[in-house]
Amino acid sequence: MNFLSPIVHPTPENIAKAAALLQAGKLVAFPTETVYGLGADATNDKAVASIYEAKGRPQFNPLIIHVSEASDLHPFVVWNDKAEFLAGIFWPGPLTFVLPRKPDAPISLLASAGLDTLAVRCPHHPVARELILKTELPIAAPSANSSGKLSPTLAAHVAESLGDNVEMILDGGPAHVGVESTVLDLSGDVPTILRHGGVTIEDLSALIGTVRCALHDPMAPKSPGMLLSHYAPTLPLRLAATEASPSEAFLTFGDDTAAKGGAKRINLSPEGDPMEAAANLFTYLRQLDDPAFSGIAVMPITEKGLGAAINDRLRRAAGPRE
Ligand code: TXA
Ligand code: MG
Repeated sequence: MNFLSPIVHPTPENIAKAAALLQAGKLVAFPTETVYGLGADATNDKAVASIYEAKGRPQFNPLIIHVSEASDLHPFVVWNDKAEFLAGIFWPGPLTFVLPRKPDAPISLLASAGLDTLAVRCPHHPVARELILKTELPIAAPSANSSGKLSPTLAAHVAESLGDNVEMILDGGPAHVGVESTVLDLSGDVPTILRHGGVTIEDLSALIGTVRCALHDPMAPKSPGMLLSHYAPTLPLRLAATEASPSEAFLTFGDDTAAKGGAKRINLSPEGDPMEAAANLFTYLRQLDDPAFSGIAVMPITEKGLGAAINDRLRRAAGPRE
């Protein structure tokens, strides 16, 4: 028996406490109709970084942004007719849309792993809705399990999987759908399912015609991972750089006093904190991705904690381009 277990009943007082925790940048696990989510303020880079940290994942997988009303999404994504039509039928519910991100959307770039699209959903569970409404914030929430474990359908699963990495777990009973939401990419010409889930492809194609399935269609990329054209800066990236040339931008980490050169430098975390570096990564890369420089030199970054995910992303960005 874990006496420190932060599982609580979703009374109005506890939901108000959970909302205050989220507003303060903390993590709260909450029930949705699909599976339990691990929520954080989607506009707060550090809060989003702590989601990845708590899940112990060596990669930044983009997260779903949860809102209580479709109209709350207008500052964040470019809405379209298909989204409007399907939201009218399935929302609130287990369907996620991938849509183009508005350039000035106040959502953490880390939440969408630097992509120019955002996954958005309006969950049905009354506790999720009440919580999101109270925070008055968009909530980034992956399934509340640690990396490699099954998605949790009970509050106890969350406690087993995430232990004390979460500030509070709201217990809403068993998640009744029991599988994650369907992820439907509506950002291109043909609607494409990236992940099967609570709403079936038959349901969708009966309503909107051709729906491609990324998992089976030979015309579509083979796996959802491959569909995510991973964010890479336009400039070439040079990793493990201990100094930079006078024309290079220099992305440094930790104590950079001995690292010479660079036309402009930004430090991901002068303290050498991988969480802080993750929170800043995509914003700083974008700031340095300027044709005024010949390339971006990147200082070595620790493999500890989120350092592994940062290095994974940087290696992909530095690797061969298609
Ligand atoms: O039912 C659910 O969707 C649950 C509850 C908590 O809402 N959430 C969930 O999140 O399953 P997660 O992070 O475990 O899965 C999100 C999925 C991943 O497959 C991710 O690759 C995809 O959504 N995704 C997120 N943003 C994307 C984007 N911009 N483009 C393509 N796929 C995206
Ligand atoms: Mg998951």
